[in-house]
Amino acid sequence: MSDSIYFVVFPYLAVILAVGVGLYRYFINRFSYSSMSSQFLENRALFWGSVPWHYGIVLILLSHLFATVIPRFWASLHSDPTRMLIIELVGGILGFLTLLGIVIVVLRRIFSPKVAVVTTVMDWILLADLLLQVAAGLYIAFFYRWGSLWYEYTAAPWIASLASLTPHSDYIIPLPWIVRFHMVNGFVVIGLFPFTRLVHIFTVPISYLWRPYQVVMWYRSQTAGTGGAFMEQGGRAGGTGEPGEISRRSFFLKVIIGTLTSIGGLILAIPYLRAIFRSSPPTASAWSEVTDIDSLPVGQPVDLKFEMVSQDAYIHGATVRTVWVIKHSADNLTVFSPICPHLGCYYTWDAQAKLFECPCHGSVYTITGKVIAGPAPRPLDTLPYKIENGKLFVQWERFKVAIPEKVRV
Ligand code: FES
Repeated sequence: MSDSIYFVVFPYLAVILAVGVGLYRYFINRFSYSSMSSQFLENRALFWGSVPWHYGIVLILLSHLFATVIPRFWASLHSDPTRMLIIELVGGILGFLTLLGIVIVVLRRIFSPKVAVVTTVMDWILLADLLLQVAAGLYIAFFYRWGSLWYEYTAAPWIASLASLTPHSDYIIPLPWIVRFHMVNGFVVIGLFPFTRLVHIFTVPISYLWRPYQVVMWYRSQTAGTGGAFMEQGGRAGGTGEPGEISRRSFFLKVIIGTLTSIGGLILAIPYLRAIFRSSPPTASAWSEVTDIDSLPVGQPVDLKFEMVSQDAYIHGATVRTVWVIKHSADNLTVFSPICPHLGCYYTWDAQAKLFECPCHGSVYTITGKVIAGPAPRPLDTLPYKIENGKLFVQWERFKVAIPEKVRV
């Protein structure tokens, strides 16, 4: 299946689902937002699981958000190696805290019979998915270190492109599979949002971070009915007491939310189907004009921006790209992709050392692209070029990172 489905279509579907069904649930069955009191009957393991989980996950999510929304500020934090080390260390500790929390929460639901009996299938699906997500995040932090830095060059622009409705998945397609899984699974969690107890986040329950858990005394009257019956009664208590009015209001809300969600779904359906049924493999991108050959200095790498028109699923539009160009003579050039083959950061040219240097993990390349230091698994990637009427044309391509072979994605 096309990468566009995973990295473009699916994220939008997940958000539409989260907003559409989340609103529906909020207006139609608001009282299902809270956990039944019997969930709190066991509160010792709950404390040791819930507190580290919430402190860890809230801060980790905030750091992801900051790096995406204010990348310049985030980048300035990393400009000092000591600060970057501290950020990575704190991130690692929070990651372990989060993992510890979710493991305790899962074990509590397995081993506490009172809690296990009120755990739904969706609870198990959600917990399993969150566990996977946290474990994948920690694995990435450990084995692909300085993620807080390369996130800025990969995930952040991808998410920003989704948010600005100009999706560009090629920022992340070359990344290792575990990183891509982590990103897509983040949207799986968003999609699960309205079907699980995660909706409680909408109520911004910040006070849970400092207030002690309630002690719940279990008293079940023979005639009181089930928790489901309680929720039903609670839902009605929120209205005016007129059953006819409630059902009319519910009906119109259902129609409005259903219509909005359907329109959103329809807008995405066409490119989605087109991406699924696209029979031919992606073709090489067209030639893009970059600059006049005469304007280039000889023997000196220069980074040049150019505009290219791309078409992938429903992504159609002009994108600004960068390439490094070294002119050896009027008809002999080297054109490098600006992307470090290690994990996809953008490297720079050190004019004094006469070396290309990647800030993320310290890979260093000669002017010919050869690796002389750092973890990069292969030389810099060259791009096809041609010269016509004194102008340089380049064919933009992306290659998989973190592998020794140069493989186009
Ligand atoms: Fe790791 Fe460049 S991305 S050295």
